[in-house]
Amino acid sequence: MSWKNDQVTKKETEKIIDLAKKALGVEGDFVEFGCYKGDTSLLLADVLRGSGKRLWVYDSFEGLPEKSVFDESVLGQDFRSGELFVTKREVKERFLRAGLPVPMIKKAWFSDLTASDLPEKIAFAFLDGDFYESIKDSLKLVEQEMAEGGFLIVHDYTNNALPGVRKAVDEWGMNGRKFAVILL
Ligand SMILES: C[S@@+](CC[C@H](N)C(=O)[O-])C[C@H]1O[C@@H](n2cnc3c(N)ncnc32)[C@H](O)[C@@H]1O
Repeated sequence: MSWKNDQVTKKETEKIIDLAKKALGVEGDFVEFGCYKGDTSLLLADVLRGSGKRLWVYDSFEGLPEKSVFDESVLGQDFRSGELFVTKREVKERFLRAGLPVPMIKKAWFSDLTASDLPEKIAFAFLDGDFYESIKDSLKLVEQEMAEGGFLIVHDYTNNALPGVRKAVDEWGMNGRKFAVILL
């Protein structure tokens, strides 16, 4: 499957796919927090084909939430509340058109999710919620379920247009984790 993805660069996509393939050998399912229209989700589903593992994707399907004060940046003025709106149905239809298994698609704000909305074990997590609270909430949700030796990727850590991502990760702290944390 081609890497075509307008949310993640080619180099980042290659890294994500490489780690996803490694995660096939780890106990648990794959999750993506902030799937938007499913570009990365489709690539992950392709990696998962025939593996017996499932993909779980989460999104408000109402676009981005309000920014917190930690998300303000002169470079990030395009990221506004309600941007990146897509419907759950559109995402589902993309999987059907691609002939890929439709993932578990959950429509919710991350802050409203609980452990019961997640797989019991996570081998691979891709966090792409853009804002401080979104990353903080998704880190809190996945950390308990991450399998030993799993992979947790946070997107936009180095993106100066989205400073809240770095702050949320730095406050959370990467040391002493039993899984790999990869910051893109
Ligand atoms: C950059 S897009 C995700 C791109 C996608 N991961 C990809 O690679 O194609 C960010 C998505 O996160 C969702 N999002 C951000 N914060 C959220 C939150 N707190 N709760 C639910 N969804 C959220 C937005 O609705 C948006 O669709």
